Amino acid sequence: MQKGVYKLEKIVINGKRKIGGEISVQGAKNSALPILVASLLTGGVSVIHNCPRLSDVDATVKILEYLGCTVKREGHTVVVDSSGADRFDVPDSLMREMRSSIVFLGGILGRMGKAELSAPGGCEIGLRPIDLHLNAMEQFGVKIESDGGEVLCSAPEGLHGAHINLSFPSVGATENIILAATLAEGTTTVTNAAREPEICDLADFLNRCGAKIHGAGDGTVTVEGVKKLHGTEHTVIPDRIAASTFMIAAAMTGGMLCLKDVIPSHIGPLFYPLREAGCDITVSGRWVCLEAPHRLKRIKMIRTMPYPGFPTDVQAQIMALTTVADGTSVIIENIFESRFKHIGEFLRFGAKISAEGRMAVVEGVKELHSASVKATDLRGGIAMVLEGLCAEGETTVSDIYHIDRGYENPENVLSFLGADVKRVTDHERKDNKIEELPFA
Ligand code: UD1
Repeated sequence: MQKGVYKLEKIVINGKRKIGGEISVQGAKNSALPILVASLLTGGVSVIHNCPRLSDVDATVKILEYLGCTVKREGHTVVVDSSGADRFDVPDSLMREMRSSIVFLGGILGRMGKAELSAPGGCEIGLRPIDLHLNAMEQFGVKIESDGGEVLCSAPEGLHGAHINLSFPSVGATENIILAATLAEGTTTVTNAAREPEICDLADFLNRCGAKIHGAGDGTVTVEGVKKLHGTEHTVIPDRIAASTFMIAAAMTGGMLCLKDVIPSHIGPLFYPLREAGCDITVSGRWVCLEAPHRLKRIKMIRTMPYPGFPTDVQAQIMALTTVADGTSVIIENIFESRFKHIGEFLRFGAKISAEGRMAVVEGVKELHSASVKATDLRGGIAMVLEGLCAEGETTVSDIYHIDRGYENPENVLSFLGADVKRVTDHERKDNKIEELPFA
């Protein structure tokens, strides 16, 4: 969020309506962002389809334009011509608009052989350090200096392939390594690489551009550096987090929902807990359908884990579900140390939750009541909308700019599915407050 004037928007929900019907979901934000960055490496024209219309995509486009790319958008297609890119720095103000801007590190270094970025600080859910990213870049032969929050990287001798073992399968670090390795001299091997579907989508895009990346989606990724890439056309995969969110909305409101054009295996980690809660899930080709039970049952234990484990990005939403399930559920957040900020807002709906450290214990209640809440972060914010959908009365969720970072017109999608949800612009706020760094 920038200094100055901005709209103060809210989502207003009249709860107790069933969510059901048939939809296709938006393209994956967490794929679109690194793929847009990767277009910088090609030095040509990349046509990226199914790119969601989100504020995080706007922020990525702004950085690409600052770097000298020409970007055109039409509907869900973004065309990036990176032939004119000539800058290697990203100003702090642009870095701050989006947490995942750190992925520009590998993209800019790969293209320019040097990069100047500001280091992201802490955010709502924890410190989010970048040590794994920086250590990996050093192994390519990059020299790194830090100066007052600025990270200055240079590789006067060029980037050289390396064997990199990640101590944790970080999604962002794996993306940065792949981006830096694509045009580096020699071969790079990453062990304990992240296996998230968005890593595969990035590798697919780059391979279409002429890169030689093998093993994406496995724990070991090999990148044979190539001299040059070319532009291509690519369609971003469906958003597994948005898909999971709408399935949970249907489950919580007693509805029947079919998602079309999704990749069911990507949503697979959610099936087991939803079935444990009593939902009937059927999968056929690129369709996933859910039928909710009359009353949800508790989910004994959910632990967030790297893919193919239960995603941290669905932790808040599944917690919302357990607040209205019969019995006691336990949720353990293993990825981020402080990703429970939504709990305080959930309590306003009458939810019964106690938390200590990384563990939350949820005792399901029969009914939630409406509340006035503030989105604390992207996924926590949409989870509050879910609470509002099954609460009696009118719920207001404010600070929804967090939600707009990852969900395209959620009020329209939910209304289409039968909810009574609208976006309301209160008035404009004028201040110089810089909001906390958003979280992805
Ligand atoms: C994480 C999620 C990803 C999700 C994204 C946005 C995992 C494994 N990753 O990716 O699925 O889409 O958030 O919500 O679930 N870490 C370090 N040093 C580093 C980098 C990371 O210690 O240099 C730690 C982080 O503090 C965190 C963990 O590793 O505890 C996961 O980080 P990472 O996978 O890098 O986060 P994202 O790429 O943001």
